[in-house]
Amino acid sequence: MNIKRVLVVGSGGREYSLIRKLRKTREDLEIICAPGNGGISEIAECVSVSATDVEGMVKLAKEKRIDFCVVTPDDPLALGMVDAMEAAGIPSFGPTAAAARIESSKIFAKELMEKADIPTAKFKFFTNADDAIDFVSIMGFPIVIKADGLAKGKGVVVAKDMEEAYGAINSMLNDKVFGEAGSRIIIEEFLEGVEVSVMSFCDGIDFVPMVSAQDHKRVFDGGLGPNTGGMGAFAPSRHYTDEIANEVNERVFAPALKAMAELGCPFKGVLYAGLILTNKGLYVLEFNARFGDPETQVVLPLLEGDLLEIMVACRNSTLKQQKISFSKDACAVVVMVSAGYPGKPQLGDEISGLENVTDPDAWIIHAGTVKRDGIFYTSGGRVLGVCARGKDLDSTIEKVYDNVRKIGFRGMHFRRDIGRA
Ligand code: AMP
Ligand code: GLY
Repeated sequence: MNIKRVLVVGSGGREYSLIRKLRKTREDLEIICAPGNGGISEIAECVSVSATDVEGMVKLAKEKRIDFCVVTPDDPLALGMVDAMEAAGIPSFGPTAAAARIESSKIFAKELMEKADIPTAKFKFFTNADDAIDFVSIMGFPIVIKADGLAKGKGVVVAKDMEEAYGAINSMLNDKVFGEAGSRIIIEEFLEGVEVSVMSFCDGIDFVPMVSAQDHKRVFDGGLGPNTGGMGAFAPSRHYTDEIANEVNERVFAPALKAMAELGCPFKGVLYAGLILTNKGLYVLEFNARFGDPETQVVLPLLEGDLLEIMVACRNSTLKQQKISFSKDACAVVVMVSAGYPGKPQLGDEISGLENVTDPDAWIIHAGTVKRDGIFYTSGGRVLGVCARGKDLDSTIEKVYDNVRKIGFRGMHFRRDIGRA
């Protein structure tokens, strides 16, 4: 495949990192990103088509004579953007809508895990609130309540008592706060342990795991405050030994791919396993059908090889022929967010000091920024990430924070314990 023009769908730090990685090996590649962000506009052409506008995106891909399309966010995958692109003759990276159900329906994922004997928390699903509440009162606390569908990362509640469980069940099943996505819910056993994220490149048959990562979801230091889209991440995880990696490959990725193929929806793209390592062994908390955010920001810099070639091999089912390896270095990112995040963020503030990040092993990842007259302003809750790589995790994290100090905007907030918690 002679690829000259690539379309990347999305607008966050993950897409920024992916384009940055493509640029490293393919300087002459024409990259179009829709809708993109202020920072992405410096490394690719941004076009304002919404990531969920499947028809509009296919039209854009045709107009721009795109050779290969990369779909990374969850919503367009669930809406069948890869199916629509392929039907229009545009080779694309990412799972079909049927394969993306491994993320877009938690019940689908749970049933798949049950069938394929993949370790996961014990569960039951419900459509009726009274039945769900009866079940919770038998099970005890803490207990985990999850909306079946995509809920922008807000569909999981760890309830510590009946009041919280009742609130979550009632708001999902009766008040329909997540609409259809919450019309079925899962209630599952609470697990305790270290959470590790591992992503694999998949071509429908074979998979190649990437280096492990850990992210920090809560907004405040020490894991306090509400959940967010991710306040920082680092790779590799200190807990993910070779022995555990082998176990995950054998008990999670291999059976998941086999089961998906048997269901008639072979998985191509990136399969993300959210794992929890407990003292009873490892379990899968969730699958995502895509690159994770912010894990991608710390995993892709460590990838040795040509990302575009690997993505094409996933699509063409030729992953076996690829040489894929990862550096032994460490990489970390600290996310800087707007005041108010993860609630309604304060936006439109000027960002200063970006030009002072000149360390060759540190860089900025733009997520919620816009650029006007050469100046960057905040335009989203998660504004930017400061990333660094180095020989070990401790010195890398120090390097990240040295550079975080150089940047400022009104109401800026970041966690001070990334990689240490
Ligand atoms: P999920 O989207 O299913 O990964 O859930 C989001 C977060 O909720 C996870 O990263 C965990 O921190 C937490 N969580 C989910 N399921 C469980 C569980 N069974 N036990 C404990 N925590 C969980
Ligand atoms: N970091 C988890 C996700 O991408 O959903």
